[in-house]
Amino acid sequence: MATSLSVLSPARQREEADVCVLGLGYIGLPTASLLATHGLAVHGVDVSERVVESVNAARVHFVEPDLDGMVRAAVHSGNLQAGSRPVPADVFIIAVPTPVRAGHAPDLSYVDAAAEALVPVLRPGNLVILESTSPPGTTERIAATVGRARPDLAPNSAEGISGEGVSGQGDSAGGDSRAYFAHCPERVLPGRILVELVENDRIVGGLDDEATERAAAFYERFVTGEVLRTTARTAEMAKLAENSYRDLNIAFANELSVLAHDQGVDVWDLIELANHHPRVDILKPGPGVGGHCIAVDPWFLVAASPERTPLIRAVRKVNDAKPGWVIEQVHAALRERPDAVVASLGLAYKADVDDLRESPALRIASELRNQLGARALACDPLVPGLEYPPLSTLDEVLQRADVIVGLVGHECFREIAPADLAGRHVIDTCGMFRR
Ligand SMILES: NC(=O)c1ccc[n+]([C@@H]2O[C@H](COP(=O)([O-])OP(=O)(O)OC[C@H]3O[C@@H](n4cnc5c(N)ncnc54)[C@H](O)[C@@H]3O)[C@@H](O)[C@H]2O)c1
Repeated sequence: MATSLSVLSPARQREEADVCVLGLGYIGLPTASLLATHGLAVHGVDVSERVVESVNAARVHFVEPDLDGMVRAAVHSGNLQAGSRPVPADVFIIAVPTPVRAGHAPDLSYVDAAAEALVPVLRPGNLVILESTSPPGTTERIAATVGRARPDLAPNSAEGISGEGVSGQGDSAGGDSRAYFAHCPERVLPGRILVELVENDRIVGGLDDEATERAAAFYERFVTGEVLRTTARTAEMAKLAENSYRDLNIAFANELSVLAHDQGVDVWDLIELANHHPRVDILKPGPGVGGHCIAVDPWFLVAASPERTPLIRAVRKVNDAKPGWVIEQVHAALRERPDAVVASLGLAYKADVDDLRESPALRIASELRNQLGARALACDPLVPGLEYPPLSTLDEVLQRADVIVGLVGHECFREIAPADLAGRHVIDTCGMFRR
C-alpha cells in the first residue's frame, strides 16, 4: 500500500523500492535524498548515465547548499541507489523536465517517456505522483498512457479521463486493483531546496479522491507545511498561476525600469518610495526573466487557451525584451568609450546558483561577445565550465573592464568594494551594487 511505507533496513539488497524517483535533477535528487534519509528505500532513475554514476558515487552534479551532505548520507546508508530503469516500488515520483519547444508549445516528451518506462513495473495499489510542472491535463495524460498498456491499472477518474484507452476499470470499493495518479507541483526555490522541500505548503491533486488522499498522506510523512488537497487539474493550474503571477509582477518592474531610465529617475529609489504605500509591493527589475520555471510555465497557460491569454503573452514579451534593452545600454556606453572593454558579471539565471537555463544574463553576455569579440568579458565563478562565452576571473575583470554590466547579484559580486568600481561605467541591471 502506498500509505504504509515502512522503514527498511539499510542493508537490504533492493530489486524493489518504497519510492522510485524518475529524474534526478534539481528536484528529483533532493527529493530522493530527503526520502532516503527519512528511512525510505529509494531507487532514483535517470536517462543520463553521467547522473546515475555520479549519484551512485554519492556526488552531486549541480550546486545546491547542503545537498552534497544529504546525498552522501542517503547513498552511504544504502537507502538511495540510482539506475537507468525504474524498479517496482510503492510510490513513483516523476520529476523530469517539462520545457517548451520552439514556438512555445509544451514539450511533454520527457513525461511521456517516463510514463511509458513505468508501465512494466507498475502494480495494483501503486501511487504515481507527477511533480514536474505541467500543462493542465498532464496527470490524466500519464494515466491514459498507463491505461492504454495496462487497462487493469486504469483509475476511475472523478474528473473524467478523456484519454483514449482509459477504461476506468478501477475497484469502485477503493481496493487495490488499480493504480492511483496525482499531481503535486514542486515550488522550491533553488538555493533553499532542502529547507523548502520540507517546510513549504504542498498542493496535492489526485485524479480521484482516493488518489488525492494517498498522495497527501505520502507528503505528510515528511512535509511540515500544510498539505492542501484538490483535483489534479487545479493543482496543475495552481503552479502555472503562481509562476505567471510572478512573471507579471516582474514584467511590471522591468517595464518601470526602462521608463524610469528614460525619465532620468533611479528606479530603485522609485520602487522603494512607491512600496511605502501600504498596499503596494513592486518587485525588483532585472536583466530579464530566466530559469526554466517563470520564463516557461506561463506558456503552458497560453498553449492551453491562446485566445484567452493576451495578458500572459504580453507579460512574456515584456520580460523577453529586457535583455535587448540591456545590450542597448552597453552600446550607449560604448558611444562614449568606443574602445572600452565590457565585462558581464553573472551568467546564471539568478543569484547564487549555477543554473543557466533560459538565463537572460547568458543571453546578454553571449550576444555582447558575438558583437564585440575579445573586448567582451564574461565572469561567473559559480559556473564551472562553459563553451561560450569564454569565462574570465573576477580579478581579470577588475583589471581590464571599463564597462561593468551587473547581471546577477551573486554574493561574490555584491562584495566588490565601491573603490574597485570607481572610474568605470557601471550598468547595474539588478541593483547588485547598491549598498
Ligand atoms: N529546478 C527548479 O527549481 C524547479 C522548481 C519547481 C519545479 N520544477 C520542475 O521540476 C521538473 C524537473 O525540473 P529539474 O529542474 O529537476 O530538471 P533537471 O533538468 O535538473 O532534471 C531532470 C532530470 O531528468 C532526467 N530525465 C529526463 N528524461 C527522463 C526520463 N524519461 N526518465 C528519467 N529521467 C529523465 C534528466 O536527465 C535530468 O537529469 C520540471 O518540470 C521543472 O519545471 C523545477
